[in-house]
Amino acid sequence: MLNTQNVKLRVSAGRIDQFPGDPLPQVTFSGRSNVGKSSLINTLMGQKKLARVSSAPGKTITINFFEIDKKLFFVDLPGYGFAKRPPAEKAAWSALTDGYFTGNRNIDRLRLVLQLVDSRIGPTADDEMMMNFLRESGLPYVVVLTKTDKLNKTEFSTMLADAEAHPLMRDVPRVPFSSLSGAGKNELWKIIYEYTGV
Ligand code: GTP
Ligand code: MG
Repeated sequence: MLNTQNVKLRVSAGRIDQFPGDPLPQVTFSGRSNVGKSSLINTLMGQKKLARVSSAPGKTITINFFEIDKKLFFVDLPGYGFAKRPPAEKAAWSALTDGYFTGNRNIDRLRLVLQLVDSRIGPTADDEMMMNFLRESGLPYVVVLTKTDKLNKTEFSTMLADAEAHPLMRDVPRVPFSSLSGAGKNELWKIIYEYTGV
């Protein structure tokens, strides 16, 4: 078991050469801006402000490496799909994210991608592009359906059925999640332990 109290932000990397070289397994959080990545990390860690929660998305483009109990990295990727981003920021996002997935000599340490999808809107074109990329790269991913507290019972059932039928989601684990209620937290930890072996 991990001591989730023993956690620190090791590196906020703006460049590939700043990625930590420690031989630890990595769990990576991917999703569009505002989908709830930082909130998910905070909920999993039982901390309020470990990863910053933003109401104004798309600030600095960095990949944040949280070291957990010296045994595991949580990797918080910069959010994508923020339409109003200036071209220079989009280029920075691409360079850094491409660098993480394709120019990273430690990519074999990546054990699992948690791909976040907003449960109220379903997968966007960018989400589908990301899941396609993960699939084609042979990278294991699990879909986290975020903000389920915003759905009523009927909407929740429809959302689950849609996810179950979606070609990029139907054959991977799907976890409904809410950072408000904590629903899905235990299931996600189970998955993280299973994929990382820590
Ligand atoms: P960027 O870092 O900007 O890419 O965003 P992010 O994906 O880290 O999202 P963040 O966790 O900052 O959350 C964005 C907004 O959604 C914030 O206002 C959160 O309070 C809200 N939010 C996140 N998770 C939930 C949830 O489970 N339920 C509800 N109701 N709101 C949520
Ligand atoms: Mg964030």
